[in-house]
Amino acid sequence: MAARPAEASTALITGGTSGIGLATALRFAAMGHRVVLNGRNVERGADAVARVRAATPGAEVYMVAADVSQAAGAAHLVERAASLLGGRIGVLVNAAGGDFVPQLFKDASLETLDAIVRHWLLSTAFCCRAALPHLGPGSAIVNVASDAAKVPTPGEAIIGGAMAGIAMFSRTLAMEAKRDGIRVNVVTPSLVLDTLTHARVTADGFSARLFEKAVAMAHLGLPGPDDVAALVCFLAGPEAAHITGQVVSVNGGISAG
Ligand SMILES: NC(=O)c1ccc[n+]([C@@H]2O[C@H](COP(=O)([O-])OP(=O)(O)OC[C@H]3O[C@@H](n4cnc5c(N)ncnc54)[C@H](OP(=O)(O)O)[C@@H]3O)[C@@H](O)[C@H]2O)c1
Repeated sequence: MAARPAEASTALITGGTSGIGLATALRFAAMGHRVVLNGRNVERGADAVARVRAATPGAEVYMVAADVSQAAGAAHLVERAASLLGGRIGVLVNAAGGDFVPQLFKDASLETLDAIVRHWLLSTAFCCRAALPHLGPGSAIVNVASDAAKVPTPGEAIIGGAMAGIAMFSRTLAMEAKRDGIRVNVVTPSLVLDTLTHARVTADGFSARLFEKAVAMAHLGLPGPDDVAALVCFLAGPEAAHITGQVVSVNGGISAG
């Protein structure tokens, strides 16, 4: 089937109330897309909606509160978003993230292992599974993972496994969904300035030392949320109509992925 230009007039962004997800929402709204933001915290969601409207007066933007680490939460989110967006989801961005801080695997509790797989790999799969019936030719999925998917890093064994899971899940889904004209790609940051993740991982002793070494390798400078959002929007948009199944790093040179 010939590739068709990606239609991106509507977007659902999990984790869209903060960081990379919010930066992506700001870009989509500025491009004239109708946008649904998601997070669990309603107040943070209201602030995010206000920020998008302030940046793009007249923007059509909604917030749907749901916990995407649960299959029922993801299903509720997608149904509500599809209804708000007129039945069709042009772009799904999975950018929700939990509150992980790197720690050695031998020190991690069993609950932590379960939560990490649930909050990253499973939440991404749940949202893709729920959204597929609302996607069609020209639709695109962009999953935000992490360079922990590619670079073995002490302290990131289980999250690296979950992120690598997102990457392979997405690449395989891309090979299935291309028949329906749907593209699937992944963006993998390492460390992004001005995000809750950045604040969290640089506050803790072991984790702070780990990322201090990483930052020293970022000769191009650390990206901010908008730098990552630019890549997300490119991969979701018509200029990437022939790109699917790719896992692209944006990390200022910390590694070559
Ligand atoms: N920032 C970085 O340095 C960096 C580096 C590598 C990878 N990443 C990955 O990139 C993604 C975005 O990171 P970020 O730092 O931009 O995010 P962030 O600022 O920490 O924001 C996380 C967003 O996800 C939402 N969220 C968290 N858990 C959720 C759940 N179970 N259900 C629904 N929403 C949920 C949060 O809202 P509520 O709390 O209200 O639910 C918030 O909107 C994450 O997957 C992160 O692991 C980030």
